[in-house]
Amino acid sequence: MHPRYRLGYIIAEDPSSYQIPTIEPVHIWNSSNKDIVSLRKNLLRQWIFASIELWTVIFLISTIYFGSGSNPSKYTDNLDVNIIDYDGDLAGYYFTNAFRQTASGNSTLHWCYKDSSDFNHNVDDTQDEVQNGKVWAAVVLRADTTRLINQSFAALANTTTTLISPFISTLPILVIYGDGRNTFTVNTYVLPPIRSAIAKASAQYGQYLRSTLIHNLSSSANSANNYTQQLFNTFQIGSLLVDPLSASYQNIHPGSPLV
Ligand SMILES: *[C@@H]1O[C@H](CO)[C@@H](O)[C@H](O)[C@H]1NC(C)=O
Ligand SMILES: *[C@@H]1O[C@H](CO)[C@@H](O)[C@H](O)[C@H]1NC(C)=O
Ligand SMILES: *[C@@H]1O[C@H](CO)[C@@H](O)[C@H](O)[C@H]1NC(C)=O
Ligand SMILES: *[C@@H]1O[C@H](CO)[C@@H](O)[C@H](O)[C@H]1NC(C)=O
Ligand SMILES: *[C@@H]1O[C@H](CO)[C@@H](O)[C@H](O)[C@H]1NC(C)=O
Repeated sequence: MHPRYRLGYIIAEDPSSYQIPTIEPVHIWNSSNKDIVSLRKNLLRQWIFASIELWTVIFLISTIYFGSGSNPSKYTDNLDVNIIDYDGDLAGYYFTNAFRQTASGNSTLHWCYKDSSDFNHNVDDTQDEVQNGKVWAAVVLRADTTRLINQSFAALANTTTTLISPFISTLPILVIYGDGRNTFTVNTYVLPPIRSAIAKASAQYGQYLRSTLIHNLSSSANSANNYTQQLFNTFQIGSLLVDPLSASYQNIHPGSPLV
């Protein structure tokens, strides 16, 4: 066939006969090619500037988020904290008394003593005022705390019963707060005085329980008592003697996306 004819057609050839171009891969991080070196320098510079900008933005946002580490008075004028005693017995007495004795740390922080009837006797309802921003936190002493603690101690003294643990299944005190409102204010002005009041309440009630327990055990001392059993029971509910009013903390509106 004449070669001119052939040009009009696309001749299908065996693809494996094509030459595969051999291109050396260029490594941007270790190539010594002049262009690549300057490209590399440029990229690094851009990357560093971009990171600095990014961190500056993150820093600015987080300072706004955390309240800039300062407390504008609009945040701290009225730091109201609800104190609610659902127990209404001996534990409740130690609970409210400790708050009355505990300086709120800042004159703008106020303990507001409320009755459980203000919240339909329902612990869940105490969240609402924290949620709505009416108060900065709510501190609740759960109902039946004294009764359950009394039961635990009665069982301790009763030598026919072997205690496994205290009768209390949930921690007696619940602290509800939301640091999303202002993390700095909550962690600096609101929570520390609450913690110290709870620690005081627990220490004073614990001391009362220890001294009445000793009194009860010594007055009931007779040969019929199994002291081994009583000692064993004492160890089982030791946490009640040390820290009867322990608390759980519930952050219903966490402020920081970083933690
Ligand atoms: C209480 O808060 C106000 C307002 O932020 C502040 O000026 C003052 O120094 C604080 N006082 C104490 C004892 O922390
Ligand atoms: C618990 O015991 C104390 C005495 O230690 C008593 O004053 C209180 O009324 C008792 N409360 C209940 C609910 O048993
Ligand atoms: C001691 O425990 C036993 C068994 O639970 C009970 O029957 C008894 O009434 C208890 N005694 C006292 C004084 O609580
Ligand atoms: C001491 O005994 C009294 C009377 O039985 C009881 O009400 C109280 O709960 C007991 N307290 C302790 C800590 O055992
Ligand atoms: C006293 O209690 C311990 C532990 O429960 C038991 O092993 C022991 O037999 C009891 N002693 C008497 C005299 O009941």
